[in-house]
Amino acid sequence: MSTLLVCDDNTPLAEQYAYDLRRLAGHEVLIAGSGEVAMEIVGREPVECIILDLEMPGMDGFAVLRALRERAIDTPVIVYTGTGSYDRCVQAIKWGAYAFIDKQEAVERVVREVENAIERRRILDEVAVLRRYADGESALLGGSPAMRALKDAIARAAPIPSPVLIWGESGSGKELVARDVHRLSAGAREPFVAVNCAALPEQLVESELFGHERGAFTGANVTRKGAFESAGRGTLFLDEIGELLPAAQAKLLRVLEERAVVRLGSSRSVATPARVVAATNRDLEEAVREGRFRRDLLFRLNVHSLRVPPLRDRLSDIPELAEHLLTITCERFGVRRKRLSPNALALLSAYDWHLNNVRELRNAVERMIIASDDEVIGPEHVPAEVRDEAALHAPPSATGGGRTFLELKAEGERQIILAALERNEWHITQTAHELGLADHASLLKIMRRHHIARS
Ligand SMILES: Nc1ncnc2c1ncn2[C@@H]1O[C@H](COP(=O)(O)OP(=O)(O)OP(=O)(O)O)[C@@H](O)[C@H]1O
Ligand SMILES: [Mg+2]
Repeated sequence: MSTLLVCDDNTPLAEQYAYDLRRLAGHEVLIAGSGEVAMEIVGREPVECIILDLEMPGMDGFAVLRALRERAIDTPVIVYTGTGSYDRCVQAIKWGAYAFIDKQEAVERVVREVENAIERRRILDEVAVLRRYADGESALLGGSPAMRALKDAIARAAPIPSPVLIWGESGSGKELVARDVHRLSAGAREPFVAVNCAALPEQLVESELFGHERGAFTGANVTRKGAFESAGRGTLFLDEIGELLPAAQAKLLRVLEERAVVRLGSSRSVATPARVVAATNRDLEEAVREGRFRRDLLFRLNVHSLRVPPLRDRLSDIPELAEHLLTITCERFGVRRKRLSPNALALLSAYDWHLNNVRELRNAVERMIIASDDEVIGPEHVPAEVRDEAALHAPPSATGGGRTFLELKAEGERQIILAALERNEWHITQTAHELGLADHASLLKIMRRHHIARS
């Protein structure tokens, strides 16, 4: 269902179109009796397609097309004219209309044009997102539905200068996400400054973030810019923001509100246009409830939130990640490029990487390269803890078989459920439907039996 706008000074006709479009295609339809009202509505409502009469007193259809163009509103427009003048319609197309229809035509054709226009717009949006990704190199690998959704969210949030909060387990790729936000932001050519809030000793946090004047405290022998100032118009990445101490939290909040910093020992404030991206592997809402993190600061930071899915929720990314890690690690070690045997890969794909996500996988790959003398890495080179746990889940060929029918059946079931959940982005009802189960409760029951839980 989409929101459409029909603009015609002939209200009964506009109402007829609106009625048909609701009835035939279930769209929500708004009506404007003049060009002026239409412009007001598109400035306010998320209209996805406009059906526009060319002949209207005052601001006519051409004036509306011009105004849309001037305001860079790219909502598709379908025009019609009461005079049956083909030339005028062609002219409207030149002015940016997507298509024209005849008032005499069956409404089914109108519906079809509307759907085409909306679909085309959607595809163009998607292409723009992908192009922005392809134009620069992203280090963030993974084509699973969860990763694609994340990349999409990054591309949407990045150009908007408000703060971004990245949530994700340890080693899941939060820093890569922060770098992508920077890469796709308006300040991409400006500095990316990272500060790990957990790594700084208490006395240094504030000076590190906000800077200090000479003599501000014992040991402050020179004036020093803080991270905010160093980031300039670029990005300030505040890693492990949940570890920030209360005093620093209060100051950070003030800086975000006033968009200016005051160096320690100074009374002068300096404007800070830097875009703030913060990351955490903790549940900050819980930290707020426990009084360890300021609610107002969480509010400020959490304008856009990006959740990095843990690796176990996107096991289909493992082949791509493992191959990539193998290539870069072999290069780094200066050894010949090794290959993963299908059985080794099957073990990696059956483990849940709960300790450290992609970083854990990276360490496993390193150890496997060291453990194998041959060009091919076999299941025997997979680290024992990974192998032992994965063996419970991996297909029997990876471990050499020897399991009972019931074990194999259970494993088959588990793999089917996991794959279906991933395909449906862990939407329980949708997955249950795809699998032909009675309802979501039946799926939950099976998931419990196999200890499958979304993190
Ligand atoms: N999607 C990915 N594609 C390629 N490499 C990845 C991906 N995700 C993570 N990595 C790699 O895994 C390692 C950990 O990633 P990163 O440091 O971004 O995680 P993190 O979430 O910031 O972890 P921590 O919570 O420990 O700070 C890095 O070496 C990174 O390059
Ligand atoms: Mg990190």
